[in-house]
Formats: sequence, C-alpha cells, structure tokens
Amino acid sequence: MTETITTVVPTMPRIGDPAPAFTAATTQGPIDFPGDYAGRWVILFSHPADFTPVCTTEFMTFASLEDQFAELNTALVGLSVDGLYSHIAWLRRIKETIEFRGMSDVEVTFPLIEDITMNVARAYGMIMPGEDSTKAVRAVFVIDPKGVIRTIIYYPLSLGRNFDELLRVVTALQTADAFSVATPADWRPGDPVIVPPAGSCGVAKDRMDGHVDGVTCVDWFFCTKEISAQEIDDAIRQPNR
Ligand code: BEZ
Repeated sequence: MTETITTVVPTMPRIGDPAPAFTAATTQGPIDFPGDYAGRWVILFSHPADFTPVCTTEFMTFASLEDQFAELNTALVGLSVDGLYSHIAWLRRIKETIEFRGMSDVEVTFPLIEDITMNVARAYGMIMPGEDSTKAVRAVFVIDPKGVIRTIIYYPLSLGRNFDELLRVVTALQTADAFSVATPADWRPGDPVIVPPAGSCGVAKDRMDGHVDGVTCVDWFFCTKEISAQEIDDAIRQPNR
C-alpha cells in the first residue's frame, strides 16, 4: 500500500543542511549569519521571552560557560522574538539583581538577536504553534565552521537546557571530526570511542584477531579504541582564547 501523509509539516532545517542565512540586529550590533562565524563553531539558540525565570537561569549559565565554549572555538548567539530594548533592559537587570546557583553580577556579552518579525525563528523552525504560536521554543543549533548544521536539540518552554550536555555535544562532534570516530552512549572524553566498521572482511577479521593496533572488536560491527582525554584536548582545545 502507498503511504499517504495528510499532515502538512512546515519545512525546517535539518542536520547536514547549511544554516539558513540572515542579517539581524543584536545586543552586540548587526550580525550577518552564519558568514560572520566562518571558521568557528556556533551555538545558535532561542529562548521564549525576556524577563522570564527559566530563560534568565539559562542566560546566566551560558554566560558563565562562555570561556569554556570559546576554548572549543565555539561562539554563542541567542535569539528571541523580543525587541532590542527589551533584550538590553533584561540583560542589565540580570546583571544588577539576579543570583542563581552561586552566580551573580553576570554580564552577557554574546549577541542576543532581536526577531520581532519572527522571520529568523520561522526559518529555523523555532516556532512550534502546538507549544506556543507567539514565542520560540528552546531550540539549540550547533553549526560547524563551514556553516553546516551538525546537531539540533529542542526543549519545551517549561524545561531549562542541560549545559553539561551542550558542552558534551560540541566536544563529541569535534572529537568525531578530528579522529574519524563515533562516540557511544553517554560518552565523555577519555572513554573508548567507536571505530566505524571496516570496509573489508579482511580488516574486520584482523581486528577481531586483535591485529589492528589499538582497536578492540567484540563483533565485526562493534570495534572501539582508546583516545585519552589529553589527546582530545590537544586536538580540539584552543589555547589562550
Ligand atoms: C521561563 O523562561 O521561565 C518561561 C518562558 C516562557 C514560558 C514558560 C516559562
């Protein structure tokens, strides 16, 4: 039987697509995206609204981790459908009055895009009318130095993001690129990585026999190898950023 799809799904960018290009005003001046970030990784993320508590905790956490993302050559860019003056007033208020988890006097210095037309939010599929038709959900787009979308994560309005996971995602993507490997469930730097299945039976058999240096296979399709956290640091971490 031929499948019939009756629900119309708006087009959204997907993993592997070029990041949709746009220009916009931000709290740090105009932005030309993703061109301004060529050669850097970027986390483009949306939040539902300024002057809301969960978003406030997320901005304080992102700001406190900005140096750690910079060490991974990763810039942060926020977006909501609020205007620039709202953004500026909210970020000032966060710095002046909000304490959260030991953080206070937090200054957000990465750009926050104003998107009152919702054009950018729509282009990135950040508006999900079933959740809210006038606010962006909590979307996270991890974009590589060539402007290609490498990971997309969405959270609903009520759920603040897990920032350990966002750091882990960037680290894992960069490790996969640097070493041509994949990373298993719950991987952390220093854990064994997955070696993609070999292209020939001969190599698979050599691996099974323990004849390929450093590679351990428990089946023809399941081979791992050790890469130390130090090797990963040396390959992906940027000094003095
Ligand atoms: C918040 O950030 O607290 C929030 C924003 C929109 C809806 C619900 C919560």
